[in-house]
Parts: sequence; structure tokens; C-alpha cells
Amino acid sequence: MSLRLPPAARRLVTVAGAAALVTGLGVVAATQASAAAGCRVSYSANSWSTGFTGNVSVTNLGDPITGGWRLEWDFAGNQRVTQGWSATVTQSGTHVTATGPSWASSLATGASATFGFNADYSGTNTAPASFSLNGTVCTGSAGPGTPSPSNPTPSNPGPSNPTTPPPAGSKVDNPYAGVQGYRNPEWQAKANAEPGGSRVSNNPTAVWLDRIAAIEGTEDSSSNGSMGVRDHLDRALTQGAGYIQFVIYNLPGRDCAALASNGELGPNDLPRYKSEYIDPIAAIQADPKYASLRIINIIEIDSLPNLVTNTSGQAGGTAMCDTMKANGGYVQGVGYALNKLGALGNTYNYVDAAHHGWIGWDSNFLPTANILLQAAQASGSVNNVHGFIVNTANYSALREPYVQPTTTVNGVSVRQSKWVDWNQYTDELTFAQAFRNQLVSVGFNSGIGMLIDTSRNGWGGSARPTGPSTATDVDTFVNQSRIDRRIHAGNWCNQSGAGLGERPQANPASGIDAYVWVKPPGESDGSSTLIPNDEGKGFDRMCDPTYTGNARNGNNPSGALPNAPISGAWFSAQFQQLMANAYPPLS
Ligand code: BGC
Repeated sequence: MSLRLPPAARRLVTVAGAAALVTGLGVVAATQASAAAGCRVSYSANSWSTGFTGNVSVTNLGDPITGGWRLEWDFAGNQRVTQGWSATVTQSGTHVTATGPSWASSLATGASATFGFNADYSGTNTAPASFSLNGTVCTGSAGPGTPSPSNPTPSNPGPSNPTTPPPAGSKVDNPYAGVQGYRNPEWQAKANAEPGGSRVSNNPTAVWLDRIAAIEGTEDSSSNGSMGVRDHLDRALTQGAGYIQFVIYNLPGRDCAALASNGELGPNDLPRYKSEYIDPIAAIQADPKYASLRIINIIEIDSLPNLVTNTSGQAGGTAMCDTMKANGGYVQGVGYALNKLGALGNTYNYVDAAHHGWIGWDSNFLPTANILLQAAQASGSVNNVHGFIVNTANYSALREPYVQPTTTVNGVSVRQSKWVDWNQYTDELTFAQAFRNQLVSVGFNSGIGMLIDTSRNGWGGSARPTGPSTATDVDTFVNQSRIDRRIHAGNWCNQSGAGLGERPQANPASGIDAYVWVKPPGESDGSSTLIPNDEGKGFDRMCDPTYTGNARNGNNPSGALPNAPISGAWFSAQFQQLMANAYPPLS
């Protein structure tokens, strides 16, 4: 796991709020001699006083483009692109060129490419008047061209992707509703071995498939269990469980912004990810023996949000995140997983969508929704996505009753406090509901549901505030009133003072399919000193209690518990603390 605030400069741009403007189709028709050409562009800008996030979707209405696509436009004012995603966006003078990434360079007839960028500007942010795709001005329809036998009606978008899987059977709207969840016996045994652990060990927790060997199961249970995917599914049948949760967590170049959960696959191992990891999992899940189970797959924690906030040019950006953005390993890997694992009538994909203390700022919110959409499109269909999960393995409070974005202290907004730091959100429930709306508006199905990992965001115990502070200074007020007791919202490793949160439950709030325990309480986030291991896991100083921080946590102490084992390994002291500080409290 890792996480991370956006750089300060990007945070500040949220101050002025946002205004949207939508525009622009070109007006001049152009044709090519031998092929039908045409395109349609939708362009929107989410602007604040000195910058904006642009969101562009281009649809090819002409013959298929196979040798790479290139969208060009001119800005009318002094707009200057600072960063692009899902395309290479370069600018020369007022002229901007966006080219498709090497792994998504084709555009079939009727297919769309979506990408985004951040830019600076001053004055008026006028939208471009005209766009051209590979030299053809986009008029919203195909030019006359020469219809070919294989493409007789170029102006009529055909099926966008012939590899789209068949309809996925009769999935239920909410797979968590009305049924008992699978209790992982390996986690249960560890919890039951702790004094008082039997008070919580009956809760369903997720099974993490964090390496290829976890599929078959292994005798080496140094940090994880030895049951394989079939063992868990068989046991779920024996238990009479209605649903079972797996975490799909083995991307090439995993955990690119941190070290504690680096994995076994190198940055260029996408082929191995597909053939040695996803394919075997999909094959087992497809066994008709398991057709009565609702199989929930939680897809690739932290990966796509890392491409939005932790690449070069950003505070805390890493070379590995640059690599994974440039080589398409994350987008294509997630796309492949969604396609293969979403194809069955009884499987449900929920994609990881970070948490409010990571993508709650305007500058990260829409770009993250867009890259999630891009991965879904890479899978062939947004129908492969049933929903999203937030706060996985993190500690953000579910609700902050005394610190809402609208709260003011002595006329000063809490958004100006160091803790909130201009974020648009202060808690996970509000964030999850708002992000659901954003995801639907970029193109996901209106029926998607959200999950919130409440395994460790309880923050009970004697330090929990029982009402708002009476302080008149905004920082003092927020620090005394907030439920989340971390030193900084960017801290993520084995947090001191945390407690178990809401117990797993279905339909807890509007738009929320379930509160879930995806991170099994008691399993470490990372070692507090270097511990050699054969799982690829590094030592991240965010897990060292003596560390004084980095750009991603505002150079604050890490707030981590001491003496922690490597990520995934049992950490008894943490489990005891989580029970002691549970909220709601344990009876
Ligand atoms: C680790 C995994 C582990 C998971 C659940 C992650 O941080 O990298 O190995 O399975 O946590 O504890």
C-alpha cells in the first residue's frame, strides 16, 4: 500500500472552485482521397482561477486507424499544458498534439479514446474552436471518402469492439445483500489465537491473492496462508456462504509509489501477469461447481490512482510510476483482469479507487475517474465493472461529524486548516458517494455500487472526540474535533491509535453496496525495519516510527507502530490495538 497527497502546488489550485465549459466541434469538412475519415470530439474543462483539467474524448467516425492516432488543436489564449494522462500531450506555441499511447494506438470505426490533461492559464479559458484527428478536421460526421466492402457505412458507428465478451448472465445488483459472507479460516485461526479475538473472528474478510503461488496454495506460509483459490471456494461452499471476496493484487511493477508492497513481477511482466496469474484464477472461478457463489474480485489496490498523482513532476513522484504509466502495464493489466474476471454471471469486479485523502482534491478527482474509465474501456466494456472500493487498507474515517467541508471557525473554513488542506472532502462516506456520481458521469453504469473498507478506520477509545472543539483557531479546532487521529492524512502504515471500524454489512448507505473488511485486521502494512524476504517486499520508511516523513505526508512523522513484520504478516500488537480502539466498540 502507499498513498499520497498531491503536491502542494496542485492542492492550492482548488481554492477558487471549479467551473465547467463544454464545447467544440470543428466546422470545416475535410476528406482524404482513398479512405473515409471523420471524427467527433467532446471537450470539457474543469477550471479554477489559474488552471484547469481538460477532459477530451475523440471518436473515430471514419475507417479504422491502425498506425497510431493524433489529435491536434490550437488554444485561443495562453493556456499551457503541464501534464497529460492516457495520451502523450505536447504543446508548441498555442498548438497542442495528443498522441495515443503505444498500447492503445488503434481506433476502430466508432471507437473512442479518452484522455485528459492539466493546464495553466490566465484571463479567459476559451475552449478550442476546432480539432483534427490525423489531419482531418472533426466535424461530427464522416467525410464522403470511399466506403470499403468491410466498412460499407463509415458514418454509422458499428460495434466498437468485436472482442467484447458476451453478456455476463444474471448478476444481482448488490452481491452483498441478503447473504452471509465467506469467513477465511486462516484469518479466523489467527484472530482466535489472540486473547479476545473470538469477538471479531466471525466477520468475513477478503482473501488476498498477492502472488502467483497463492493461486494453488503453498506450504510456505511465512506471511500469508497456505490455502489456494480452490481450497477457499470449496470451503465457502461448505460454509454455505453466499459471497466470497478475493483481492487481485499482483500487477507488474506493483505499488510503484512505495516499497512495502512491491511484488514479484517486474515492470515489463504484463504477459506473465496475464497468463500465469489472471488466466488461472479466471479458470478456477469459472468451474460450474462454484456457480452458486457470488465471487467478488477487488481489483488492484492503489495502481491506477498512482498514475494520476505519483509520476514525475509531482512531489513524491517515482520513476517506477513513470514506467508503469508509459508502458501501459497498469491500465492494460487492470483491463485484462476486468475482462477475464468479469465475464461470468456470478463474478463481480470492484476496482480500487483510493480514498478521500488521496484523490479528494479537484485536481485528482476527475483525472482518476478518467483513468479508471480508460482501464474499463481497455477491458472491452464498462459492463465489466460492477463497482468500486475506497479506503482499502487505509485509515480514513467513515464520517467526520464535526469537520465537514462547510464547517467554519470564526469565519474561517476548515478547508483552510493544515489537516484538510483545501481538500473537497473530509470523510470516506461523503467522498465515496460523490465519486460514484463522478464515475457515472464519465461513463460508468448508473447501477454501480461502492464499497468502503472499514477494517481499520474506527478511531474509538479515549482519544475519540465526543463533540466539536470550542477552539477559535482553525487548526486547533480541526485537530481537536476530527475523528481520524492520524498525524497526517497521508500516513498509511500500521497507524498508531487506529481501531476496527464498522462491521461488514450490506446496503449501509445510499450508493454504498457494503462496508467490508478487505484488509484483514492484524495483518501488517509493512515492516518497521528492513526484513529480508523472498516476496519482493521492500522496506518503506513510512512504516518506521522514527521516520520524519516525505513530500507525500507533508514531512510529518509516520505515526507507525514499532516492531512490525513485513506486509501481510501477522502483527499481534496491531490486532490488539485495533480491538481496543474499535468503533463501534466491541461488546
Ligand atoms: C501485502 C499483501 C497482503 C495484504 C493483506 C498487503 O499490504 O502486500 O502481501 O496479502 O496486504 O494483508
